[in-house]
Amino acid sequence: MSTGELELDRIKRLLPQWVEASRRLTAEGKVASYIPELSKSPREALGIFIMSASGDSVSGGDCGFGFTLQSISKVFTLILALMDHGEAHVFAKVGMEPTGDNFNSMLKLELVEPGIPFNPLINAGAIAVSSMIGGDSPHEKSARILRFFRELANSDTLDYDIDVYRSESETGHHNRSLAYYLKGNGVIADDVEDVLDVYFRHCSVKATCSDLARMALVLACGGADPLTGKRLIPRRYVQIAKTFMVTCGMYNASGEFAINVGLPAKSGVSGGILTMVPGRYGIGVIGPALNPKGNSVAGVHLLETLSAKLDWSMF
Ligand code: DON
Repeated sequence: MSTGELELDRIKRLLPQWVEASRRLTAEGKVASYIPELSKSPREALGIFIMSASGDSVSGGDCGFGFTLQSISKVFTLILALMDHGEAHVFAKVGMEPTGDNFNSMLKLELVEPGIPFNPLINAGAIAVSSMIGGDSPHEKSARILRFFRELANSDTLDYDIDVYRSESETGHHNRSLAYYLKGNGVIADDVEDVLDVYFRHCSVKATCSDLARMALVLACGGADPLTGKRLIPRRYVQIAKTFMVTCGMYNASGEFAINVGLPAKSGVSGGILTMVPGRYGIGVIGPALNPKGNSVAGVHLLETLSAKLDWSMF
C-alpha cells in the first residue's frame, strides 16, 4: 500500500468516532435564520466527504443531503470573473485584504478610501464580482456560473434551490443596501437588482459534500481535475483563490482557522465548508449549526481533529 492509501485507510477506520465526537458540539450552535428558509436545516447534522487525487474517497456522518453553497460560491465566481476579465480589471474594483468585520458589514466601504470592497469573499466584494461575470443579461451570467459550477463538480444535476433563492431575494435588505452603496461609489455599473439576482442565485446553488469535495479537489490540484485530466482553471487564479481562502475564507475567524487547521477553506452560512489538502484531497463538510462567527461549529471541530491527527497543516 502507498502512504496515501495507508492514510485513507486510517481515516476510514477512525472517522466515525471523530464525527460523533464533533457532532456533540452541534448542541452549542445555531442554524442561520436571517435567510428564513435556512432555518429548516437539520441542526444536529454533521457530514464529511474526502476525495483523493487518485479518485478514492471516504465519507462520514450525514453527507447524503443537499445544502446551498452560500458564500462558498464566492470563491468560484471570483475565479470566473478573473477568467473573464483578468486580474487588473477585477482588482481595480475589489481589494485583497481581510477586514476583521462581519461578512455583511458596510463599515469600511464608507471609512476607507477609495470605497471599494476590501476583498471578494465578503458580501460587498462578492456582489461586485457578480457584476463582473461575462454575459449580456443576468440570465446569461447566471447560466454561465451554473455551467462552471457543474463542470467543477463534474455533475450535470447541480441546480438552484429555488426556495432558498426566493427566501434570500425577498429578505436580502442588507445586501440590497450594500449593492446600492457600491453603485453610488461607482463599483457597480449594471442595474443593481440585476446584479443582486446573479448574486442570490449563485448563493442558492444546492450541492452535497461530495460535490464540494470534487470542486475542492480541482483547487487542490492546481486547477486541473485529476480524475478527467481536464484543465478547468488557470493555475494563477487557483493560487489567488486559495490565498483568499486562507486570509478571508472563514470570515473574521480566518486567523484562528489558519492556526488550528492550516488549510485553505471557505465556509457558508448553510453550514458548509469547502477545504483541501493541497495536492492530495478535496474535502466537503456540512454541519448547519453555526458558531457566533457564522462557521459550522462541529465542522470546524472535525477539521481541527483531522488536521491534528494527520498533520495536515500547511504551515
Ligand atoms: O449574502 C448572504 O448573506 C448569503 N447569501 C451568504 C453569506 C455567507 O454564507 C457568509 N459569507 N461570507
